[in-house]
Amino acid sequence: MRKKIVAGNWKMHKNAEQTEDLLNELIAKIPTDTDTNVIVAPTFVNLASAVDHLEFTNIKVAAQNVHQAEGGAFTGEISADMLKSVGVDIVILGHSERRAIFHETDALIANKVNTALEHDMTVIFCFGEELKDRQSANHFNVVENQLKDGLFQIEAKDWEQVVLAYEPVWAIGTGETASPEQAQEMHEFIRETVRKTYGNEVADTVSILYGGSVKPENAKEIFSKPDVDGGLIGGAALKADDFVAIVTAI
Ligand code: PGA
Repeated sequence: MRKKIVAGNWKMHKNAEQTEDLLNELIAKIPTDTDTNVIVAPTFVNLASAVDHLEFTNIKVAAQNVHQAEGGAFTGEISADMLKSVGVDIVILGHSERRAIFHETDALIANKVNTALEHDMTVIFCFGEELKDRQSANHFNVVENQLKDGLFQIEAKDWEQVVLAYEPVWAIGTGETASPEQAQEMHEFIRETVRKTYGNEVADTVSILYGGSVKPENAKEIFSKPDVDGGLIGGAALKADDFVAIVTAI
């Protein structure tokens, strides 16, 4: 069975105190009997305290990035071993902001994926087309290439540790959401692309999240589509009530 997942990407928001406040609200408000996997991704400096804070809850903690090397002279970077050592074993990779602002290429992302998997971490692999790709009807190609160049180097057995997050760049932080039909059409294409290379078992069990301006008002309709297994939430993950409403919309 495919896992239902709602993950909050906090990006560069929330200092230590604000992180604790938001976590406390989430602990109080997320139903304990939910079968949805709930994940939050605070900033690096708040990861260790978040893990401690959430120890006796079913909310998991993810990092927003990891460096591909084991260690060394890489000022400002964080290794997979460091994340694991504070209890973080999920990492978001390939986010469009990392690709666009920090110039991460498919090849670099592939390296990071490999490193994370070698450390037995779960990877939330993000990808999605830009507006110009959709306008030129090239979006399926772009998405297929991002998968092939950034992820399809992994082995079939590694897929247990991979979650896909389709995030059309034109929908991230813009308030403009893909329609449920657009999301479904692309998610189905993604699942079939995975099937062609890795076969039925992988394609039918991998969770594919949608991301891009998911809000309490549109979550239910998007999540109701057969190939949408949850969401990666940015802005709406910063307000407890909105995030909880999205979690319970599945
Ligand atoms: P958004 O961000 O929900 O604010 O559009 C989604 C994301 O960047 O993962």
